[in-house]
Amino acid sequence: MISRRNFIKTAVLTGVAGALPLYFLRNSYAIYQPEDFVSPLAIPPQLFGRMQDGKKIFDLNLQQSTTEFFKGLKTPTIGINSTFLGSTLRVSRGDKVILNVKNQLNESSTLHWHGVHLPAKMDGGPHQVVEKGQTWSPEFEINQPASMQWYHSHAYHRTGIQVYHGLAGLFYIDEKDSQDFELPDKYGVNDIPLVIQDRDFRQDGSFRYISSMHDQMAGIQGSEILVNGVVRPKLTVKNKQMRLRILNGANARILNLEFSDQREFIQIGSDGGLLEQAVRLRKIRLAPAERAEILVSFSDNEDLMLRHTPLPQRAAMGGMMGMMSRMMGGDDRPFNVMRFVSKKPEGDIIKVPAKMATLPTWISEQPVKTRHFELDVQMGMMGGAARGGNGFTINNAFYDPSRIDEVVRLGAVEVWEFRNNSPLPHPMHIHDIQFRILTRNGKPPALNERGLKDTVLVFPDETVRVITKFENYADDSAPYMYHCHNLEHEDKGMMGQFLVKA
Ligand code: C2O
Ligand code: CU
Ligand code: CU
Repeated sequence: MISRRNFIKTAVLTGVAGALPLYFLRNSYAIYQPEDFVSPLAIPPQLFGRMQDGKKIFDLNLQQSTTEFFKGLKTPTIGINSTFLGSTLRVSRGDKVILNVKNQLNESSTLHWHGVHLPAKMDGGPHQVVEKGQTWSPEFEINQPASMQWYHSHAYHRTGIQVYHGLAGLFYIDEKDSQDFELPDKYGVNDIPLVIQDRDFRQDGSFRYISSMHDQMAGIQGSEILVNGVVRPKLTVKNKQMRLRILNGANARILNLEFSDQREFIQIGSDGGLLEQAVRLRKIRLAPAERAEILVSFSDNEDLMLRHTPLPQRAAMGGMMGMMSRMMGGDDRPFNVMRFVSKKPEGDIIKVPAKMATLPTWISEQPVKTRHFELDVQMGMMGGAARGGNGFTINNAFYDPSRIDEVVRLGAVEVWEFRNNSPLPHPMHIHDIQFRILTRNGKPPALNERGLKDTVLVFPDETVRVITKFENYADDSAPYMYHCHNLEHEDKGMMGQFLVKA
C-alpha cells in the first residue's frame, strides 16, 4: 500500500501528479519528516571581484534560466551569474567597489544593495532602472562594520515576482582586525549562509505566484521551504561550533525558528553586524529581510531539525484585530526547515567575549525630529477605492515615484515611529542607514533586537520607535526608499521615499 505521503512524494518526484496542482497539497508541508530531508545543502559560490585601478570590480549578470528543484521538473527561474539566486559577494570595509549589473532578462529590473550605506544614486532602488540589454555600474565605498547584507531586485511593481523567481543574493562585508576574538569564518565549512525562502510549485514545475486575494493581502506564501535554493536540505556538520548566518529571504513569511531539541544557541549579530553583547536564545524570530548570525554547538552523532513554530504574538492577539489577523495574515503552521547531521565534529568552541562590538553613540543623542508613519490596509469597502484601489499605505498614501515624502537634513539624528493600524504585521525597512530600536509599544526591545538594524517587524496594534543618524551622502534629487519588506505589500503601495539634503 502506498501511503498518502509517499504517493505525494512519488507524484512530485516523478511528475505524474496528473491534474493535481502541487499547491493543492499546501496542507501537506507540515508532514515533511526528518527522513525527507536528504538533499545536501548548497552553498552559494563566493565572488571576490577583480582589482583594477585600486577598485574591486564585480560582474553580475541577471539571467533567465531554469532550475531543477525536483528531479525531472524544470522551473523557470532568474539568477545572478547562476540559475537561481546569486553568488555571495565579498567586500571589505574601505574597499572601493564597482558592480557591473548586466540585465540579460527580457524585462527591466534593478539591483538594490540592501543594508549597505551608500549614495542614493547607487542604491539600486526603483529609480535606478536597468533596461533589458543594458549594464548599470554603480560605484561606492564600503564604509560600515562587518555584517551580512544582501542584494535583490527592487523593480517598480515587480519586486515581488522578480525576487520570487530568484533575483537575490548575499553581500558580505568583512572587516580586518576589527575584533580581538575569532569567530568561525571558514565559508561553507563552519560559517554557513542560510537563505530561507518559501515557494509554491505548479504541476509543471513553474512557480505559482499571486493567484488569489489572500496571496495579495498576506503576501505570497509557499508550501515548500527552500534553503539556499534547495528543497528539504540536509547539512553535515563538521565543526563543534557552527556560525550560521541566516537571512529570511521570503517574500512574506515570518519565521520563528528553533532546533527540534530546543537547544540553546548564541545570537552574535543582527542586520547591521555584531551585537554589543551576545544573547542566549532557544528561538529566534526573523521577518522578511531580517538577518541573524548565530553560533550553535554540536557534539558527535546528532541528527536534528531547524523548524518553524507559530508566532505567539499572533495567537495572543485578541478581539477583532486578532480575528482579522488570523484570517488575513497568512499561514503560520509549524514546519521543518532543514536538517543538521553531525559526524565527529572537529575544532574548538570559542568563548564569546562579554563585549563584542561598540555601537554608534547616537542612540543617546537628542533627536532633532520625530517622524510618524501610520501603516494601513486599504480595501474597497474601507475606502481604498477612493484612494486608488486595494493595497497598503503609509500615512494614507500609496507609493508614488514622483512624490518626495520626507526630507531629512544631512547629519540629523531622528526618531522614526511606525504605528501599525492594520491587522497584518509589517517588516519596515529604511534604506541608506542602520537604526536602533528604541521601543516597542513603549517598552525597550528584546536583548537580541538592540543591535544595528535596517528592518523591524511591526505587529498589528504596535508602535515601534527607531533612532538613526543620516550621516553621509546628501543629494538634492535622488531619494532613498522606506517600505514594508513584505514584497507584495511593497508592490501594492507600502513604500515612501526620502531625500537627504545638505
Ligand atoms: Cu531589501 Cu528596499 O529593500
Ligand atoms: Cu534596502
Ligand atoms: Cu506590510
